Amino acid sequence: MTAEYQVRGTVAVITLNNPPVNGLGLATRTAAVKGIQQALADDAVKAIVITGAGKAFSGGADIKEFNSPKALAEPSLHTLIATAEGSTKPVVAAIHSVCMGGGLELSLGCHYRVAMPGAQIALPEVKLGLLPGAGGTQRLPRVLGLEMALNMIVSGTPVLSDKLANTALFDAVFAADADLVSSAVAFAETIADARPLPKARDRKVDYPNHEAFLQFSRNTVKAMSGPFPAPLECVETVAASVTMKFEDGMKFERERFLHLIQTTESKALRHAFFAERVASKVPDVPADTPVRAIKQAAVIGAGTMGGGIAMNFLNAGIPVVMLETKQEALDKGLATIRKNYENTMKKGKLTQEKFDQRMALVSGTLAYEDIGQADIVVEAVFEEMGVKEAVFRKLDEVMKPGAILASNTSTLDLNQIAGYTKRPQDVIGTHFFSPANVMKLLEIVRGAQTGKDVLATALALSKKLKKTGVVSGVCDGFIGNRMIEQYSRQAGFLLEEGALPEQVDQAVEKFGFAMGPFRMGDLAGNDIGWAIRKRRYVEKPEISYSRTADLLCEMGRYGQKTGAGWYDYKAGDRKAYPNEQVNAMIVQHSADIGVARRQISDQEIVERLVYSMVNEAAHILEEGIALRASDIDMVYLTGYGFPLFRGGPMFYADTVGLPNVLAAINKYAQGHQGGAWKPAPLLVKLAGEGKGFNS
Ligand SMILES: NC(=O)c1ccc[n+]([C@@H]2O[C@H](COP(=O)([O-])OP(=O)(O)OC[C@H]3O[C@@H](n4cnc5c(N)ncnc54)[C@H](O)[C@@H]3O)[C@@H](O)[C@H]2O)c1
Repeated sequence: MTAEYQVRGTVAVITLNNPPVNGLGLATRTAAVKGIQQALADDAVKAIVITGAGKAFSGGADIKEFNSPKALAEPSLHTLIATAEGSTKPVVAAIHSVCMGGGLELSLGCHYRVAMPGAQIALPEVKLGLLPGAGGTQRLPRVLGLEMALNMIVSGTPVLSDKLANTALFDAVFAADADLVSSAVAFAETIADARPLPKARDRKVDYPNHEAFLQFSRNTVKAMSGPFPAPLECVETVAASVTMKFEDGMKFERERFLHLIQTTESKALRHAFFAERVASKVPDVPADTPVRAIKQAAVIGAGTMGGGIAMNFLNAGIPVVMLETKQEALDKGLATIRKNYENTMKKGKLTQEKFDQRMALVSGTLAYEDIGQADIVVEAVFEEMGVKEAVFRKLDEVMKPGAILASNTSTLDLNQIAGYTKRPQDVIGTHFFSPANVMKLLEIVRGAQTGKDVLATALALSKKLKKTGVVSGVCDGFIGNRMIEQYSRQAGFLLEEGALPEQVDQAVEKFGFAMGPFRMGDLAGNDIGWAIRKRRYVEKPEISYSRTADLLCEMGRYGQKTGAGWYDYKAGDRKAYPNEQVNAMIVQHSADIGVARRQISDQEIVERLVYSMVNEAAHILEEGIALRASDIDMVYLTGYGFPLFRGGPMFYADTVGLPNVLAAINKYAQGHQGGAWKPAPLLVKLAGEGKGFNS
């Protein structure tokens, strides 16, 4: 059943029923149209109420039907709205909980709207790079006024029904304890005979000097929306509600909607929206896999990562015990947590009460006995196998049966770590990103023996911690860092060949990355990469690296923490200032290795950095380390600052066209350090078949 029909006295009640949020899919639309027709055919019925079952009036389009022919099949949303608006008997929308997108557009086609307080009212299409395409841009300004409607449509942000109680959007907002349907039926009886039927389309948007306001809005919105075209298109279509007749405004809205739906930016946003949803699904771990309760956590190591990881649990109301080897390190770690929360409080983003609650949930210890009862323990000690071994052997001794033993390692072999315990099924990787209390990404590393319930618990936990959990298999660097290594290598080779750090950074930042590789290196600390490379020179001598970054570290330039890295930094200023000595070192290094420096285009820089990651990602996908291409996109969108409007590296490669990506890779394979380029078999195969990673 997708919409129920019931007659109460002289009023027909149509209840949309398509869980979870009564999305207006084809079956629901069909049933709603039928309901209206049935009511019109019944002489005993004088008025119609449309409401929603369960947790919403309607959340709008049915996301299950996105990109499917059903989305546009008749009766379309336009037809449903026209049927309601054209009804010769009054139609009342009875709104509660959630009324968004197409749901709000449907209610705007009804003659009357009544609501419960606390209902979330929104037209969020802009968040998917679109605009409301079923009359929302023309009807909402007519009932809410130009300014408020424009703000809602451009931002997509929900507004509570009580805040809109005194606008023409609502004919009544009932008391919080009222019964919505009975109240709506009673309301419908009072207006059953009133004619003419009021229609939003017949109203005029009254705004003196609207042109000045619209021009101001265009300027502000343009400045704020970066590469995304939708916000400005929203302004233009809302403007049409003032400057055009209703029918012309509707045509204009349709035209702009059809334009936006084809833009790469909107496709990228919709891709990211679905990628995030699908990331939590693991084919061999069904949705009903039991999860373990997480009521108490422990974190080993109160350093950079440990503190941030603990804050995630505290924010979610889960008590945390932090364990360190020395009191001093423990005190420092706890003080950092306090300081971070105090800063948030100073910014007005945390109340004293919440601060007190969170700080009351955290404690410290030097004794393993104090953490034995935790449901999960996350290890964030030094990145050395010997240290990890000691910790996991100890955890195996002290942790209660069924506790989850998680490691935050970025590079070490999780299976080896699990092997230090007698319960490898309980061991999993939870790879947080720095700063761990801020970054959205959580790479969940599934070991060869990790239990399905442990994986399901980690995925559920990531949601509870408001993270985007992405599952990775075990390999050096997992998904994210394994790809970034190729990117960093190319950045080094570009310096050898003729580029300077600022050119590389600027090219990548113009492409849309938050930060280029060298500014990023300075922020993270160049010594970290140096330590990793030193290990690789011994373990994997076959991999070539540019030595430029080593020479930089030998100059003592570790980055922002030493006030100098690829760039110079001034106290109290995060700006990067190019340094002549560094640039001279780079030029000299080219001469030392016998490379004649050449002018390198920004296009080459971007292609080499991005395609090197894409090629590595194709290996990752083929090896089954990542479950799907869109998971890789999620890793890069949420953990590495890949530009959202490009949809992630795999989506981007698809938009460029894999044959083009492959051709570029083959070209670079002929150039300097060409041995670094070996086209991944999956990339070659898909390019040959004319397919994309996401197809
Ligand atoms: N820093 C990052 O950006 C980052 C990002 C992701 C993952 N990681 C990983 O997180 C882990 C921790 O990194 P970090 O940057 O927080 O390091 P850190 O040096 O800032 O902190 C490590 C802490 O662990 C403590 N410690 C060391 N041995 C211990 C032991 N045996 N028992 C208890 N405490 C011990 C140290 O006293 C120190 O406070 C590493 O595995 C690292 O690879 C780091």
